[in-house]
Amino acid sequence: MQNKGFTFETVRRIECHPGAIMNLACVLQGFSCRRLLIVTDPGIEKSGLIEAPRKALAEALDLVVVFSKVQADPPEQMVLEAVDLARREAVDTIVGIGGGSSLDTAKLVALLARSPQKLDDIYGIGLAKGPRLPLVLAPTTAGTGSEVTPIAIVTTRAGEKKGVVAPQLLPDVALLDPNLTLSLPPGVTAATGIDAMVHAIEAFTSKHLKNPMSDALAIQALRLLSENLPKVLADGSNLAARQAMLQGSLMAGMSFANSPTGAVHALAYPLGATFHLPHGVCNALMLPHVLAFNNEDNPELYAPLAEAILPDLKGQSRAEMSRAFVREMQRLGAEAGLPVRLRDSNVPESALSSMAADAMKVERLLRNNPRVVTLDDALNLYRQAW
Ligand SMILES: NC(=O)c1ccc[n+]([C@@H]2O[C@H](COP(=O)([O-])OP(=O)(O)OC[C@H]3O[C@@H](n4cnc5c(N)ncnc54)[C@H](O)[C@@H]3O)[C@@H](O)[C@H]2O)c1
Ligand SMILES: [Fe+2]
Repeated sequence: MQNKGFTFETVRRIECHPGAIMNLACVLQGFSCRRLLIVTDPGIEKSGLIEAPRKALAEALDLVVVFSKVQADPPEQMVLEAVDLARREAVDTIVGIGGGSSLDTAKLVALLARSPQKLDDIYGIGLAKGPRLPLVLAPTTAGTGSEVTPIAIVTTRAGEKKGVVAPQLLPDVALLDPNLTLSLPPGVTAATGIDAMVHAIEAFTSKHLKNPMSDALAIQALRLLSENLPKVLADGSNLAARQAMLQGSLMAGMSFANSPTGAVHALAYPLGATFHLPHGVCNALMLPHVLAFNNEDNPELYAPLAEAILPDLKGQSRAEMSRAFVREMQRLGAEAGLPVRLRDSNVPESALSSMAADAMKVERLLRNNPRVVTLDDALNLYRQAW
């Protein structure tokens, strides 16, 4: 039992319903916004998703500028370009619309636009100082949960994925509109859905900061995500299932924002940074192996999660339930059509040892894993995944 008390932080206002994005103009009135920067990526801009809100805002405000050059796994240089634009146009409010890459970029722009600090100075936990510009985030994937996490992940010039973790990165408002996720292709739906599930799983088993709020959110998130991922994969236009996925990724985000992720994410980072595989795919590739590795050390670890999503196991031993959960996660990734082996994702065997060394640098996350991961373990896990 955890009886040590806890601290829990999240976003002050969350709106989740079809059409939520059309409330943007109204939400922005609350910040006396006159000059707005929308941060998004080229795919979202091309899809027309931001056209209606942009039009409504252009009528209501003095200036609406769009930065639509966000790249997946935001490179440092691109983030700084967006910060420059915000300064040049003297914007007073930032809105991020997109997947985790756009939302993370928007967070950093809101923080750095008026700050004397450099991006380099704020990698790590709690190093950002001062206030940020008003910030509203609207996810178009379900997802990273970035709309409710105090985290932004950047790819450095050296090709390393680094995180800025600071309470200022929590936005003022999160707007979740399932209409924005209807256009997600099946591959992105699957990868981002698995990412959200990993957030819930790793938050629930985090060695540090595990707390009853995060536990409850993780369980409910896993229920929603495991039930609705097959539905949105079968029919991408199922609005109710899309909304349930957004709700699931939101809850998983709130959960891991306060009870951080572990070795699946730590081992996924070098894959994303070196081979530019989507973040969710990297997680899906490592998930079954890390879960089996953790379960070996603590054979009942995942029993509570099995109880939540596999009711048919009732009556079986805790160890059997935990093993069944590990198998179920393996099945889900494969059934969702995601690659299951590194060798099928163009990762050469020769890269495994340098990736293992890189993963050991992700101490911020490794330390949360329920089982200690050594360099040998990391290499073995990559070998199993290969
Ligand atoms: N801040 C956090 O707490 C946190 C948590 C997990 C991951 N991340 C980071 O988030 C990033 C990954 O984000 P992501 O998985 O959401 O993907 P993403 O933002 O990189 O987008 C992936 C692709 O999906 C497309 N896309 C997004 N929404 C779409 C839609 N509705 N319709 C059609 N196409 C759409 C984009 O155009 C892009 O090509 C990584 O950099 C990862 O490290 C951050
Ligand atoms: Fe993630």
